Amino acid sequence: MPEAVRFSVSLSEDLLNQFDALLEKKGYENRSEGIRDLIRDRLVQQEIDENKEVVGVITILYDHHVRELSEKVITVQHHSEANVISAMHVHLDHHNCLEAIVVRGEGALVRKFADRLIGTRGVKHGRLVITSIGTDLPK
Ligand code: NI
Repeated sequence: MPEAVRFSVSLSEDLLNQFDALLEKKGYENRSEGIRDLIRDRLVQQEIDENKEVVGVITILYDHHVRELSEKVITVQHHSEANVISAMHVHLDHHNCLEAIVVRGEGALVRKFADRLIGTRGVKHGRLVITSIGTDLPK
C-alpha cells in the first residue's frame, strides 16, 4: 500500500458502537480496513452514477424446461450493447439452471442488459453486482 495518511473523524458514540458491531459481524480486524472498504464502495457507486466503464456480474436462475427460455437467454446476450466477457452455465438439478455472466461496459448499459436478462419471462431470480474495472480505484 502507498504511504498511509492518518486522519481523525468525529462522530457520536452510538454511531461508532454500531459501526464497530457491524465490523465485528463482517469479520473486519480493524476500523481502518472497514472504512477503506466503505470509501471504495462509494467510489465505485460514483463511477456507476457517472456512467463510467464498469464490470458487472449477473446471476440468473431459470428452469430450462420453460419453452424456448434457454434460447432467449442466449439471444439476449448476443444482442447486448454491453460487452459479454464470459458466461458460466451450471445445471443445478433436473429443472434449474444457474448462469453467471460477466459483462463490461458503461454503467447504464450494464444495468440495462441486466434488467433485460433478469426480466426475461421465466427467469426465477436474478442479481446484478457491479464493480469497478479498477484502474481509478486506489488500494
Ligand atoms: Ni442447465
